[in-house]
Amino acid sequence: MSDRLIYLDNAATSFPKPREVLDRMLQGYVEMGVSPGRGSYDLALEAEDIVQRAREQLALFFGAPDADRIIFAANATDALNIAFNGLLQPGDHVISTRLEHNSVLRPLYHFRERGWISYDLVHFDDNGFVDPDEIGRNVKQNTRLVIVSHASNVLGTVQPVKEIGRVCAERGIPLIIDASQSAGKIPIDMTAWNVSAVAFTGHKALFGPTGIGGLAICPDLDILPSRFGGTGVDSKSPIHTEAFPHRLEAGTINLIGIMGLSAGIDYIMQKGMESIHGEEMALLKRLRDGLSGLEHVEMYCAGNLSDHVAVLTANVDDVNPEDGGAILDGDFNIAVRVGLHCAPLVHEDLGTISRGAIRFSPGIFNTPEDIDHAIRAMASMSQNQKHGGGAGLRR
Ligand code: ALA
Repeated sequence: MSDRLIYLDNAATSFPKPREVLDRMLQGYVEMGVSPGRGSYDLALEAEDIVQRAREQLALFFGAPDADRIIFAANATDALNIAFNGLLQPGDHVISTRLEHNSVLRPLYHFRERGWISYDLVHFDDNGFVDPDEIGRNVKQNTRLVIVSHASNVLGTVQPVKEIGRVCAERGIPLIIDASQSAGKIPIDMTAWNVSAVAFTGHKALFGPTGIGGLAICPDLDILPSRFGGTGVDSKSPIHTEAFPHRLEAGTINLIGIMGLSAGIDYIMQKGMESIHGEEMALLKRLRDGLSGLEHVEMYCAGNLSDHVAVLTANVDDVNPEDGGAILDGDFNIAVRVGLHCAPLVHEDLGTISRGAIRFSPGIFNTPEDIDHAIRAMASMSQNQKHGGGAGLRR
């Protein structure tokens, strides 16, 4: 039993946050926690400047051409809902993948149940990757949108977005990526990759707090507003402003969240994204190597970890993952996420839909000793199991 919590659930939310992020939020909010973009007094203008600088910082971070088309939302799910509601029209067809989180699957299902749209979900291969040409083969005359998860929250595999972007651009179809698990770990260049919009959340690898996320949008993607209200602009008009960024924002913005998100990106830039990703992947490889030496443990990660983020999902033969998570927590002080991870189709294809699996997602604040402790915990659970296991996706 470790006397401190070993947190291996960074794919759900990064924890702890860098001290710099917490300090910036507290100090910033204490000094100028006023309503940005509403008042004409100096402090309100300074608060608005902070928001605008964050838009510029995010535009650079994602290779987006226009900082005014960085719009803030509560999280990636919220951002995706803004995109779907503002883009999809009755009769449209959408292409997505079986790797998606419910943040994509449920809105699409909702629209289809109402008879508004149809969609096809492309399979992933035995290593957890989608074939860009398979997306091309699913294009129909009425295909309005392709939406792809950049990195799977169950398998950790990073999808070939640049190639998918090429396939979409050749056919004139917008591509949106859900960057929930990749933003902050993998460089994203939406202009070079022909990505029309990036949905991001602040609270995972961008090291911000919960409750802040958004959409980075290319100027040629016309998303209609689906929420209306106060923007601080043109208050006399009954019509919600058409100008970005307020076109897709309504109500007072999450200033303290934006301060934290901005500090999180500064932290990444200062430490280096490659270095953070490298450290996390070294921990993941240590975990993968340790677990692959255990009998009865089955892992669902790609054989080769080169296009991967630090997520590893596994099962111990006869141990129900819910029980496994409780043992890891109660007996070993290890926090992981178990179950279906809001991505039921991945588990359907892995053959784990009935019980789910145990997901480990180390972060920058973990140590090799944390990983060794997790391996020992899994070794202890694997004792007295009946069947052999192994590495590689099993379907
Ligand atoms: N989507 C987050 C996860 O995969 C919450 O855990």
